[in-house]
Amino acid sequence: MKKKVIVTGGTGYIGSHTAVELISAGYEVILIDNLSNSEASIADRIGEITGITPILEVFDLCDAERLESFLRKNSDIEAIVHFAAFKAVSESVSKPLKYYRNNLLSLMNLLEAMTVHNIPSLVFSSSCTVYGQPGILPVTEETPVQPALSPYGNTKQIGEEIIRDTVTANNRLKAVSLRYFNPIGAHPSSRIGELPRGVPENLVPFITQTAIGLRETLLVYGNDYNTPDGSCIRDYLHVVDLAKAHVEAVNRLASGKNKTNYEIFNLGTGNGTSVLEAIESFERISGKKLNYKIAGRRPGDIEKIWADPSLANQELGWKTVSSLDEAMRSAWKWEINIRTKTD
Ligand SMILES: NC(=O)c1ccc[n+]([C@@H]2O[C@H](COP(=O)([O-])OP(=O)(O)OC[C@H]3O[C@@H](n4cnc5c(N)ncnc54)[C@H](O)[C@@H]3O)[C@@H](O)[C@H]2O)c1
Repeated sequence: MKKKVIVTGGTGYIGSHTAVELISAGYEVILIDNLSNSEASIADRIGEITGITPILEVFDLCDAERLESFLRKNSDIEAIVHFAAFKAVSESVSKPLKYYRNNLLSLMNLLEAMTVHNIPSLVFSSSCTVYGQPGILPVTEETPVQPALSPYGNTKQIGEEIIRDTVTANNRLKAVSLRYFNPIGAHPSSRIGELPRGVPENLVPFITQTAIGLRETLLVYGNDYNTPDGSCIRDYLHVVDLAKAHVEAVNRLASGKNKTNYEIFNLGTGNGTSVLEAIESFERISGKKLNYKIAGRRPGDIEKIWADPSLANQELGWKTVSSLDEAMRSAWKWEINIRTKTD
């Protein structure tokens, strides 16, 4: 019998790619999503890619009673991979309570329900935002966490602490927090990818939407940083590589290979890429010149960060395989696909 894994936020960007990889690895996957930032049709698209359409349960994880009734009907769950959260950094600054309520209440409801229903394993979506602007690069998991620069970032820090305390109090529970650097790109099938609503906060959808003519100008936020070309530096990893790390984390917990009951891993390529280099990569793979202009620095942006992924390489047996150009090419293919097809 297949092991059952619940993917919360499963119709979202990273959740949908992870569902594909989990199904391909032989897990039975059930998606939970309230569709606040995604579409129900993504479940069918996952089915088109894998040949197995996962069940999608549409409800809000802040609704503890609804979660409870779902779990009463679904026993023998091996693990929960928890993506569901709001993620717009700037919106979190103007609407902090919306972020604290959604991101923390959903997590606490899940942990409580996992304890009641004896669900042993949690994989949590954390972020490199927990490191703020580190003094030493690249960042390892030992790099100190710094005060968050946004309520969104704070929900990730507090989320990690809530998990640590809950796992400490309940030795039947194990968890892994994965600190993502900057996921980009789309599935090679172009059936799933990133679907930002409104003006994208992330660079790559901003690039592809500008290139396709949806936005007039790409804004580069600052060229006076202390970096070789003056623009910010990030560690961009292909979302399919990122998704595969979740399969490794679930496998590790399911087979009891975890060294402690709460583990944290950085997920990145180990390479820093500047905004201007990312633009060059896009122009190279697409043959299109981008209309971009330098705007002022954006409040809350850190100057430079990239990962030391050695711990994930060793312990999860995971490593990124796709290059920046490959990830960029998949993002461009996805953008062309969604703008030219209506299905
Ligand atoms: N995309 C990134 O750059 C990035 C980087 C670091 C960490 N993360 C984290 O990874 C996770 C997934 O990010 P993503 O880019 O796929 O975001 P996304 O918005 O595409 O997916 C999140 C999904 O969760 C759902 N959701 C939100 N609140 C919910 C709730 N209360 N109940 C049920 N469903 C709910 C949304 O409808 C959406 O489908 C998030 O926790 C995010 O904070 C993302």
